[in-house]
Amino acid sequence: MDKTRILVTGGTGYIGSHTAVELINAGYSVVIIDNLSNSNREVLDGIEAITGTRPDFVEGDCTDFDTLKKLFADYPGIKGIINFAASKAVGESVQKPLLYYRNNLTTLINLLDLMGPNGVRGIVFSSSCTVYGEPDQNPVTEDTPTKKATSPYGNTKQISEDIIRDTVASGAPFSAILLRYFNPVGAHPSALIGELPNGVPQNLIPYLTQTAIGVRPMLSVFGNDYPTPDGTCIRDFINVVDLAKAHVTAVERIVEDKCDEPVEVFNLGTGNGVSVLELINTFEEATGVPVPHKFAPRREGDITQVWADPTRANKVLGWKADTPLAETMLSAWRWQQRLRERGIM
Ligand code: UD1
Repeated sequence: MDKTRILVTGGTGYIGSHTAVELINAGYSVVIIDNLSNSNREVLDGIEAITGTRPDFVEGDCTDFDTLKKLFADYPGIKGIINFAASKAVGESVQKPLLYYRNNLTTLINLLDLMGPNGVRGIVFSSSCTVYGEPDQNPVTEDTPTKKATSPYGNTKQISEDIIRDTVASGAPFSAILLRYFNPVGAHPSALIGELPNGVPQNLIPYLTQTAIGVRPMLSVFGNDYPTPDGTCIRDFINVVDLAKAHVTAVERIVEDKCDEPVEVFNLGTGNGVSVLELINTFEEATGVPVPHKFAPRREGDITQVWADPTRANKVLGWKADTPLAETMLSAWRWQQRLRERGIM
């Protein structure tokens, strides 16, 4: 029997590459499109080394309608799309809002436009816990009210969710699953793929591992006067491979027509809130490597605390993020060491 073909946009990126691996392992045929703006071709080698299969790859930009149209013609029979292609730096989005609205929204609109005519059954969309803003209560369920976005990046996630809902409600012949990620961290246990940000990392874990290996002198902990037990922010750090596996289950629901609703929403988190200081301690204990750090002023726009109630994903998807945080930290460290061995970092 022919393998079911899935299009993974942004598939050489951090979460996209881990998802491509899990899709291939689960027996899917994967086509990746990526403009390599925040990744590189060697990621394909990593995916191939792990799975024994090289995914089909199109270098291109999803904001270009004709590129996508040609992709659907060249790779017929795509049954599902997982859309990772997007810009994701909160701070940059404040500086360059139009770049974010153009990239993130045009990509989505182009994909939705092409799904019907090409017989695609559904789309899995990378959303974010950012849609909850600073929640009144934790953990947050999918029914926790969303709040006005605090950055253009966050706004693109809210608008994208609305665009998808409106499109499906208008009678489009496909379904959608919105996955709201909490804080994805770690790397594949093989250390063959992982997170590789351009320039100075904005996110905690790449900054932490680069500090641990000596690329950066000191990690700044942004704020120790938050109303939390140790004064630092609290997040729900989820292992990237666990996260990737949820996408396989989601896409399976779509291609096998098992969705309960035309648009389903799932929180993807562990259900545990962990503070920035606790995370640093877990890394140090797991690896035995010290992370020089100091307290610095709060970072503008940061949320004090948010963690997931993942019950719906646990029950409906039969999925659970169960990799221990210490193991996840070790995987991030092994990946950082591998980058050093390869002379990249
Ligand atoms: C943010 C976005 C999230 C987005 C993600 C990806 C919000 C609320 N969240 O997550 O939607 O998907 O970025 O880019 O907009 N920290 C330090 N020192 C550092 C870096 C971070 O102390 O050098 C702290 C931050 O203050 C924060 C925590 O670590 O409390 C996590 O930060 P980060 O990894 O950037 O993720 P979020 O801001 O939670």
